[in-house]
Amino acid sequence: MNTLIAASVLSADFSRLAEEIARLKNADLIHLDLMDGHFVPNLSFGYPLVSCIRDLTDQPLDAHLMVTNPETYVDNLANLGVGWISFHQETVYHSHRLIQQIKAHGIKAGIALNPATPINTLDSILADLDYVLVMSVNPGYSAQAFIPSAIAKIRELDQIRTSQNLSFLIEVDGGVNGDNSLILRAAKADILVSASYIFGSKDYTKSITTLKGL
Ligand code: DX5
Ligand code: ZN
Repeated sequence: MNTLIAASVLSADFSRLAEEIARLKNADLIHLDLMDGHFVPNLSFGYPLVSCIRDLTDQPLDAHLMVTNPETYVDNLANLGVGWISFHQETVYHSHRLIQQIKAHGIKAGIALNPATPINTLDSILADLDYVLVMSVNPGYSAQAFIPSAIAKIRELDQIRTSQNLSFLIEVDGGVNGDNSLILRAAKADILVSASYIFGSKDYTKSITTLKGL
């Protein structure tokens, strides 16, 4: 499978949102970072902006919930036409229930792991997941430096996937750029999320192509 690129609009110029989204035509997913100021020390945007973005593109929307009560967001996001939802393992008591709630809408379900959260917290639920989101920064902001321990985590997840014959995808998020994309693809990350590398470049199409290794 070719590597998928999820363009995170967190670094987009929201005053020119339609133009910005139109420049992401070769992105496979549009990544939406929803923050509540509790789980992470930042606020981003909410349903009105998700709705605007839904109207601007047919590309699949990938919601990354950095919130303390993700279960309360799922039904609204489903109504807004989001196709992928991940929540943080650190935020829930009942991850299996929430995965079922997401999947009941026909939405792909993922769990995100902070840099300090080990893979073995997912042992009993990996078979239920459509994807695992490996955070390679502490969540909350774009344009932070990549934390290299994410690479070993991706490799380990790929080994588990192969040895247990599972099919979850591996998504990596934070500090992804043209320099580290090769090693991330080699480690078997399936989806690379990027905000500042894409939106900080002149030619978004070219940056996305570089991330794909094409
Ligand atoms: C961080 C967000 C990321 C962020 C990535 O909390 O989850 O999706 O937008 O930004 P970059 O690619 O600039 O590190
Ligand atoms: Zn994200």
